Formats: sequence, C-alpha cells, structure tokens
Amino acid sequence: MLLTILAVILYSAPVALSLDNKEVPEDGRLNFTGLALKYAGAVQEYDVTTEDGYVLKIYRIPGDNTKPLLLMHGILATSDDFIISGNDSLAVSLKNEGYDIWFGNYRGNRYSRRHMTLDPDANSTFWYFGPHEHGYHDLATSIDFVLNRTGVKQLSLIGYSEGTMIAYILAAERPEYNDKIKVFIAMAPICHVDKMIERHPVLVEIGFIFIKLFKHFKVEEIAGFDSITGAMTRSFCGHNAIGIKVCRQILFLVSGNDPEGLIPEFMSTLFWHYPVGTSRTNLEHFLQIMASKRFAKFDYGPVENLRRYKSKLPPEYDLSKVTMSKYLIAARNDRLSALGDSGRQAKELPNVMEYTFVDSDSFNHIDFLWSRQSRQYVHPKVLKILKEYNS
Ligand SMILES: *[C@@H]1O[C@H](CO)[C@@H](O)[C@H](O)[C@H]1NC(C)=O
Ligand SMILES: *[C@@H]1O[C@H](CO)[C@@H](O)[C@H](O)[C@H]1NC(C)=O
Ligand SMILES: *[C@@H]1O[C@H](CO)[C@@H](O)[C@H](O)[C@H]1NC(C)=O
Ligand SMILES: *[C@@H]1O[C@H](CO)[C@@H](O)[C@H](O)[C@H]1NC(C)=O
Repeated sequence: MLLTILAVILYSAPVALSLDNKEVPEDGRLNFTGLALKYAGAVQEYDVTTEDGYVLKIYRIPGDNTKPLLLMHGILATSDDFIISGNDSLAVSLKNEGYDIWFGNYRGNRYSRRHMTLDPDANSTFWYFGPHEHGYHDLATSIDFVLNRTGVKQLSLIGYSEGTMIAYILAAERPEYNDKIKVFIAMAPICHVDKMIERHPVLVEIGFIFIKLFKHFKVEEIAGFDSITGAMTRSFCGHNAIGIKVCRQILFLVSGNDPEGLIPEFMSTLFWHYPVGTSRTNLEHFLQIMASKRFAKFDYGPVENLRRYKSKLPPEYDLSKVTMSKYLIAARNDRLSALGDSGRQAKELPNVMEYTFVDSDSFNHIDFLWSRQSRQYVHPKVLKILKEYNS
C-alpha cells in the first residue's frame, strides 16, 4: 500500500490541481453513517476514549446483541472499507444474517483524528503511533467497549490486513484479551513479510527514502482525508480516465493483478474512502518489519531501544501467546500477504483451526473488501465460521 500511496502522490501532484472535480458518486460522498443507513437501514455511533487519550469512533449496525462481531480495517483505511461495496459488502452479508456488527476505527484516521489533550494539527506527538498502539490500545479499547455495551463476555473478531497484525500484537502483549475473543477470523493475514519482501526488495528501499523525506519536512500525517495530498489523490485516481488507469495499475502492482476484482467504475467511490490517513510512524514500523524480517516492536535505534526494551534490538512479538481460536483466510494472488508468509503464520500461531484459501487463482489482497466477487468467494467462508461459534 505504501508504494501505491507514494507513487500516486508523486504522479498526481502536477496533474490533479488542474482537474475539475467531476461529479462524485453518491457512495463516494456518503460517510460510514450514510452508507450504513443506505445499505443496512440503521447505524449507531460512539466516541470511545483510549487509556492514552485518543478518541476513537466506533460504529454499530445493530442486530442480535448476544453475538457481537467486531471488524477491524487495514492500513490507511477506515470502517468504510467494510461497506463501500454496498449490497456486495461484508457488512451487508453479516447484517443479512442478523449479527450485531461493530466497526473499529484506528487513531489518526478520518474518524478518529481526535485526542483529549493533543491537537493533531499542532502536536506532532499525536502521530507517534503504529500497529503496536493500534493493537495494544485501540483494539483493546474497542473490544472492552463492545463487551460492556452488549453485556456478553466474548465477541467474534474479524480483521483484514493490518487488522490481523494488530490482533496478534494485542493477544501477545495483553494475553488476557485472548479470553475475550470467541473466534478470530483473519482475512489476508499479515505479520511476517519475509516472502513478500523477497519478491519486492525495492519496496522497502523506496519506502525508507520517503520516510526520510517525510521526517525532514516534518510530515507526520500521511494522506489524511482533509489534506492536500488526500484531495489530490481523490481527484487524480477517482475522476480522471488516465488517473483511474494509472492508480488501478499501481494497486494491482502492489496487491496482485486482478482486473475482474477491481472494476474501473468503482474507483471514484473507492478513492473517496481510501487512503484516509495514518501516521508516518505506522508506515515506518511496517517497513522495519519488512527490512529486518522480524515481527518485532518499533525500532528506535540501539540507544533508545536499550532504555525502553533493555535490548539493542526491539523484541519480537511472542506468537505463542496468541492463543485465541483462529481461522486464516488467504488468497493465492495476494502479493502483500504472500502465501509463504501466511503459511508460516499458520505454523507458528497456536490454535489455528483452519488455514484456507479463497477458491480463485486471481483473488488478491484488496479483493477481500473491494471485489464484487468477495460475496461469492469470502463471505460464505466467514459466515460458516461465525455460525459455528455463534449458534
Ligand atoms: C457523516 O455525514 C453526515 C451527513 O453529511 C454528517 O451529518 C455527519 O456529521 C458525518 N459524520 C462524520 C463522523 O463525519
Ligand atoms: C440493495 O439491495 C436492496 C435489497 O435487496 C435493494 O432494495 C436495493 O435497491 C439495493 N441497492 C442498490 C444500490 O443496488
Ligand atoms: C500542543 O500544541 C499547542 C499549540 O502549539 C501547545 O500550546 C501545547 O502545549 C501542545 N501540547 C502538548 C502536550 O505538547
Ligand atoms: C459498563 O461500564 C459501566 C461504566 O464503567 C459500568 O457501570 C457497567 O457496569 C458496565 N457494564 C457491563 C455489562 O459490564
């Protein structure tokens, strides 16, 4: 995703500003509330504060509150990802089965860009977070909130991409949370990225160059919804025939080629919901995990590491503590969550009930949420698992 965003920003800068903002499709214009009302008929909205002061938005499409589900999105995204495919979306499939569906939003994204004392536009410390904080704080807070509101002891958790990594981090760092998760469904699961990076070594090098540049120019927020880069990306990738082609190719390059999955007509809706903000630190932590080939905590450099972790290298997350029952769903043409990497996860994580593949050779990383065919290839798998644990 990183390369996508960076390339898009680069390509778009000169072109985008000269473009007219053509008409935005309705599903592009609507936010989560609007989309949920349109496709699911009801929505509730909550502001929840983490232990370290971040105010997160949690959405709910209400249903049978004895069996709540919590959905966690990927990097640079929001809860919108689960519903922008409208009637073909996972949210609607789950709603049709009567589930009580809760949607998390990580600190720093379009909906969770708030803090009790820090101002995201003035205090750079607001942006010092990555997958670690998303797991340790944001996911923990979201789980506790849902359990409190529904009054049950356990929920079913569904994570996509970074949403799987943060669940591993939470369960490894705060093992008591394993007991709060009835079952975890990991779509396009990511933690080790050794195989992926063997195939795309350039990705990391280019990534670190951009991180250096961002640091130099004190860019803390990446591709925020209300930022200039956000607006340029939308305008270039969503409203212009050449832009749509270029951005679609970049997405395929990064996530795997699947022209049938991501149809051009969907691009203008998509780019009003993606990318919608994260921190530079989030991207940097991802790059560190890729470069070091270690699923480890943030690397602050040897001196600060010694102070924080009592070791020169940041410690690896202990996957043996991630004990909740889990199902991994992978796709054969997923370049980001490569099969070799998810296969290693399936071996190293305890209590993997099933490691299964989407039944299509061309299915890629982004197809899980953005392809119309997800309804055919992914939703039945998810529903079957949920039924087993929630009947
Ligand atoms: C969502 O859109 C509605 C209608 O435009 C607006 O009233 C509401 O404030 C928006 N919610 C958020 C969180 O931006
Ligand atoms: C979505 O499905 C509902 C129920 O089947 C239908 O009434 C509605 O028109 C559909 N919406 C769109 C935009 O296709
Ligand atoms: C946040 O920024 C404001 C404005 O620059 C400043 O007054 C305030 O002290 C900062 N707060 C923290 C915690 O750094
Ligand atoms: C939810 O939290 C409130 C406030 O902390 C507490 O009073 C209430 O008992 C909790 N409810 C449940 C079901 O845990």
